[in-house]
Amino acid sequence: MNRIVILTGAGISAESGLGTFRDEGGLWTQYSIEDVATPDAFARNPALVQEFYNLRRDTAARARPNAAHLALARLQQGWRGDVTIVTQNVDALHEAGGATDVLHMHGTLAGALCNACAHRWPAPARMAPDEICPRCFAPAARPDVVWFGEMPYHMDEIFAHLARADLFAAIGTSGEVYPAAAFVQDARRAGARTVELNLEPSAVSRDFDETRTGPASQTVPLWVDDLLKG
Ligand code: APR
Repeated sequence: MNRIVILTGAGISAESGLGTFRDEGGLWTQYSIEDVATPDAFARNPALVQEFYNLRRDTAARARPNAAHLALARLQQGWRGDVTIVTQNVDALHEAGGATDVLHMHGTLAGALCNACAHRWPAPARMAPDEICPRCFAPAARPDVVWFGEMPYHMDEIFAHLARADLFAAIGTSGEVYPAAAFVQDARRAGARTVELNLEPSAVSRDFDETRTGPASQTVPLWVDDLLKG
């Protein structure tokens, strides 16, 4: 068993102080997706959308990786084969915890994208509603995050990793959003063993061979210890 593919969601960053989306008090209980996380929302009210991401960028910049992020980096360093981390999160806590080559399928708060010329550059701490693109100078800059209705990033690469996986783990994700919620089925079809590490059962727990419940800062280090000992 050499190739491990790990999918993470907002739950892995919850203990670093970043809100999840669908838990009690989560972001989608404070904002409506249609107002802040779709291309139409940005076209309709760029000020609200930019402010939503400015707030998340500010909160994420002050957050520190927790024991779960550090444990996954330890796994990447200590494992005899490949460990691919695919995250739905737009924070940089995996990298801050020492992980490498993380695939951000929903983009990152650290990135900016031009709606006019598709130029990408490091996002400033705050973006204005009419933020200028540094290459084409159009007032068309947006956060480089994937909104609902848009195609997630790195999908070909992700599916190639899932097709060769020996072990698939989903950590801190509710299994409510596709295509990520179906990754466990892709991994099973490839013959991988599957494990879910979550605070509570998710919408897709039944698809996993094994479920370990509890806070990620406790369950993930123990899981990594078991793997590295095994
Ligand atoms: N440890 C482990 N799991 C946790 C913890 C914790 N400390 N706290 C919460 N969780 C779990 C919750 O039980 C829930 O299953 O994390 C999950 C968070 O689910 P969501 O809020 O739906 O977040 P996520 O699954 O990442 O959402 C997927 O939806 O809105 C889009 O683009 C957004 O990437 C996001 C995607």
